[in-house]
Amino acid sequence: MKTVHVDTGRPYDIFIERGLIDRSGETARSLSGARRATVVTDSNVAPLYQWRVLNSLQRAGFETTTHIFRAGEASKRLDTVADIYRTLADFRMTRKDLIVALGGGVTGDMAGFAAATYLRGVDFIQIPTSLLAQVDSSVGGKTGVDLPQGKNLVGAFHQPVAVLIDPDTLNTLPEKFLSDGMAEVIKYGCIKDEAFFELLERENAFDNIEAVIETCVSIKRDVVSRDEREAGERMLLNFGHTLGHAIEKLHGYTEITHGMAVAVGMALIARAGEAKGITEAGAADRIEKLCHKYGLPVSDECTPSQMAEAARGDKKTAGSEINLVLLSRIGESFIKKIPLDELEAFISE
Ligand SMILES: NC(=O)c1ccc[n+]([C@@H]2O[C@H](COP(=O)([O-])OP(=O)(O)OC[C@H]3O[C@@H](n4cnc5c(N)ncnc54)[C@H](O)[C@@H]3O)[C@@H](O)[C@H]2O)c1
Ligand SMILES: [Zn+2]
Repeated sequence: MKTVHVDTGRPYDIFIERGLIDRSGETARSLSGARRATVVTDSNVAPLYQWRVLNSLQRAGFETTTHIFRAGEASKRLDTVADIYRTLADFRMTRKDLIVALGGGVTGDMAGFAAATYLRGVDFIQIPTSLLAQVDSSVGGKTGVDLPQGKNLVGAFHQPVAVLIDPDTLNTLPEKFLSDGMAEVIKYGCIKDEAFFELLERENAFDNIEAVIETCVSIKRDVVSRDEREAGERMLLNFGHTLGHAIEKLHGYTEITHGMAVAVGMALIARAGEAKGITEAGAADRIEKLCHKYGLPVSDECTPSQMAEAARGDKKTAGSEINLVLLSRIGESFIKKIPLDELEAFISE
């Protein structure tokens, strides 16, 4: 078993091992004196994995119930959280009891938010089952939901008591979501780790997915623990995301996934950095090649002016300035504040 220790205000461990899902009960028991555990999961993941988790929790002595919501980002809203609260209250969950988030990032964000707020905070364990959730959303303590006005506008920081990653769950994940998660995997190589980027170039990430997940989680852990509340370094994790979010928005969050948009964003910003002499020549080509290898696009029909306009509405844009994440080379990144008005010119080259 691989273990990544996270030393935030409230330290916890991320465990990575094949088959771990069947031992989720024992792990939970070693960390919690709870009598009851509520598993929150979505309608795709429930039929695949809920019984393995419930059986394991019951064997470890937990009384259990499940809350299943309709899969998809459209469910990540306050109504669904209200439904979860109802399940928790009906099950007479106390402050000592446990919530288990079983699923992708939507499940983790929403169950985590319910855990952060129900009775002013109860313990929760993350069992991320999508690649994106395993390498990104389950680490860092951000929880929340979308509003009609925009994504992730309501939330709380709430650290889990543990994250249990079973890479075997990826065997049932649709291909499109594997690529989606690979965009974040590539991002970690770009911003922090050239040797890891080379490994992704040289080998097939899925041949040694445990090590890949461990590397990603460790990078995110390092960045987040140096900057728990997102004042500075954590912004590096937004590499490719300023343009990525703009592209997602321009496509109405439909035909293009988050990872596809981020892949395009990484390629475009690397290209722009090269044109300005900021990014080492050749970086953009390598990023494009790697994205292709993992089924991700690197261009889009949106124009620089459309993207700049869409970026204006991004909650990450601080007033009239924007924090762009740029690469000096593969594996080395930094933040450059530029006036929002200059974004279009910056990416036009
Ligand atoms: N909290 C954070 O720091 C953070 C970071 C990045 C993204 N996010 C959030 O994560 C969400 C996206 O996460 P996601 O891509 O995992 O979305 P998701 O939870 O909707 O999962 C993607 C799809 O895969 C299905 N699925 C998940 N695991 C499966 C499995 N093992 N087998 C078969 N199907 C499976 C789901 O039912 C869903 O249809 C967004 O809401 C985003 O805002 C949060
Ligand atoms: Zn992302």
